Amino acid sequence: MKAIVLVGGQGSRLRPITYDVPKAMVPLRNRPFMAFMVEFLRAGGLGGAVLSLGYLPDPIQEYFDGRNLDGFSIDYAVEDRALGTAGGIKNAEEYLDGGPVVVVNGDVLSGVRLSEAIAKHKESDALATITLTSVEDPTAYGLVEVDHDMLVRRFLEKPAADEVTTNLINAGIYVLEPEVLNMIPAGREFSIEREIFPYLQAEGRLRAYVSSSYWKDIGTPRSYLAASHDVLSGAVGAGESFDFLQVAPSAEIGKGVKVLPPVSVAPGCVLENGATVGGRSSLGRGCRIGEDAIVEGSILFDGAEVETGAVVRGSIIGPGARVGQDAIVRGLSVLGARCVVGEGNVLDQGVRINPGVVLPPRSMSF
Ligand code: GDD
Ligand code: MG
Repeated sequence: MKAIVLVGGQGSRLRPITYDVPKAMVPLRNRPFMAFMVEFLRAGGLGGAVLSLGYLPDPIQEYFDGRNLDGFSIDYAVEDRALGTAGGIKNAEEYLDGGPVVVVNGDVLSGVRLSEAIAKHKESDALATITLTSVEDPTAYGLVEVDHDMLVRRFLEKPAADEVTTNLINAGIYVLEPEVLNMIPAGREFSIEREIFPYLQAEGRLRAYVSSSYWKDIGTPRSYLAASHDVLSGAVGAGESFDFLQVAPSAEIGKGVKVLPPVSVAPGCVLENGATVGGRSSLGRGCRIGEDAIVEGSILFDGAEVETGAVVRGSIIGPGARVGQDAIVRGLSVLGARCVVGEGNVLDQGVRINPGVVLPPRSMSF
């Protein structure tokens, strides 16, 4: 059995990072998100995946081309314009073998027991089985009402606050019979959440599998950072032990540097004298942390620099971006690729700086 992984979206809520890096390739503990996806699918017993691509497909294909995945197959179905979630599934159909297929939203990090969901689907007469998880606020998701028999009673994408009747939402992991693919028109934009699921529900052929495993959609700065913290602290997966202090041997560590686990420091990083890299941070390849600078609970993409005395807390620093001397970046701020925050600026409250923007010294203070 194969999976279709939907990775064609623009990742607009994760801008400015996703102007340069597709959401599917953002790092968690210095591995691209797609590496976790492949592990998830393999653990569910699947033999391969078709990646349904659209926006920024090249970095995803480059990552997989020539990579040894021990027999797990990867195919690509690339759209020339956005076809939506159902259109993206239809576009991948030619790579399937005609049986049921698993479909996964390509931005969901989870420990869902996929093989159990598949088994439940096979026991039933459903045309589609959707995995559900519970969240505090369902308004950003697809709300799903079920009866005692796990038959779906209502599917409502992005409900308004006064339409929320349950905490159960669509976890973005489905098992579909081939008939469902036949319902999707080829070559045009179509939504599985708004067009296919409500129809299947009305026909009484849509079932649910409720999961209590770890689950997170990494599509916003807040949830991406939270997922990164969770991966670093081992909260995702089967609880296997790993190195909480993952510091590449080639990293240069100066005098009096503090590195507090859990962290991940990639090859080629330089931590200058007196720098602190606090818990739940991950530093991509070739990052430089200047003297007495502090990085805490943050994600730094490859080649990011934090200069002398600067502080980065709970924020995301894009590839090659630079935080100038004594500047402060905190409070879920996001810096796009190659931007420069000049000396002494203070960025807070989720401010986002577009790629390549240069903030002159002391020009911004929140
Ligand atoms: N190929 C392709 N083409 N993929 C797409 C397209 C498209 O036009 N549009 C979106 N995708 C991919 C995205 O890349 C993402 O991996 C997935 O489809 C879901 O799109 P999002 O934009 O992330 O949707 P969402 O998070 O608002 O809502 C969806 O996921 C929730 C769970 O995280 C819905 O399925 C909700 O019902 C669900 O609760
Ligand atoms: Mg999403």
